[in-house]
Amino acid sequence: MKVTRSVIRGCGAFLPRRVVTNDDLAKFVDTSDEWIQARTGIRQRHLVSDGELTSDLALNAAREALDKAGMTPDDIDLIVLATTTPDETFPATATTVQARLGMNHGFAFDVQAVCSGFVYALATADSFLVTGQARAALVIGAESFSRLLDWEDRGTCVLFGDGAGAVVLEAVDGQGTSADRGILASKLHSDGRRHDALYVDGGPGSTRTTGHVRMKGKEVFRFAVENLASVVREILDDADMTVDDIDWLVPHQANKRILDATARRLNFDPGKIIVTVDHHANTSAASVPLALAEGIDDGRIGPGDIVLMEAMGGGFAWGACLARW
Ligand code: ACO
Repeated sequence: MKVTRSVIRGCGAFLPRRVVTNDDLAKFVDTSDEWIQARTGIRQRHLVSDGELTSDLALNAAREALDKAGMTPDDIDLIVLATTTPDETFPATATTVQARLGMNHGFAFDVQAVCSGFVYALATADSFLVTGQARAALVIGAESFSRLLDWEDRGTCVLFGDGAGAVVLEAVDGQGTSADRGILASKLHSDGRRHDALYVDGGPGSTRTTGHVRMKGKEVFRFAVENLASVVREILDDADMTVDDIDWLVPHQANKRILDATARRLNFDPGKIIVTVDHHANTSAASVPLALAEGIDDGRIGPGDIVLMEAMGGGFAWGACLARW
């Protein structure tokens, strides 16, 4: 039986030029390199400069993904952009990227699932491709998350960074077995009762205010480990696989301690986790594609590999996508 799968053809990344180390932060926040590294594993982050927008980061990552795929904007008929920091309340930043790529065909929209945004966007684009509503998609995670930070709240401002990553997905017909390349399964969850654990206290829209990130760190930590381990087990069950089948785990990069605790709970080899949180910090929706790009570019992720992407963040919203490279 012929089955359509979304195959990842190329992956791109873009980081703002400005690098801010923990020592740089300690000059104006009551913190230290030692505290940040011990509690989070973060050494530095890239931050946008004045006038640098989420669409600028997204466009650069998208162009690199297209180059790597050997494709042009003419080949793309869908753009799904995950972000919590769109350029404007509307229109969607995805449409800005569409215009700046010179595309006047297809359709483009944003997805808002905070740190899980890329996984949500990938699952969404995959659904359009496998149902024949589009043939090739750009899926982008892009954030200028630093714009949401309260630089007087040392409990949150040291954790985040800015950046963008993108993949090109193309619909390909196969036999419908797990030997086929492409997205094999996706699982998404949310639980709106956890709003107060992680949110922005205002922002564009109905509150008519601007806001900053507020977080109950310990609660986020506990639920992140619990939910990520459970969604990984769930997606592997669906795909009739076990943790031993995973070649590379590409998690959302929130905190090295969350990565380690999740791996321990799953009995997963930490050597098979792509880790970028040390040099990118938490880039929200951009973190998974940025880590993917690094794993591909340095040759760790290669054709035929089973790659599991997972993420969890505000909402709470969490999920996973399983792919054969
Ligand atoms: N530098 C120095 N000291 C600090 C800092 C800082 N940046 N931040 C907090 N502290 C202090 C606190 O004031 C507190 O001091 P006190 O004991 O005198 O009161 C002490 O350090 C301990 O604070 P806790 O909040 O209890 O520290 P904890 O061990 O919980 O670590 C952290 C905080 C790192 C935020 C942790 O809770 C965590 O990683 N949570 C997960 C949050 C996360 O990753 N969020 C990202 C978004 S969600 C996601 O992506 C999954």
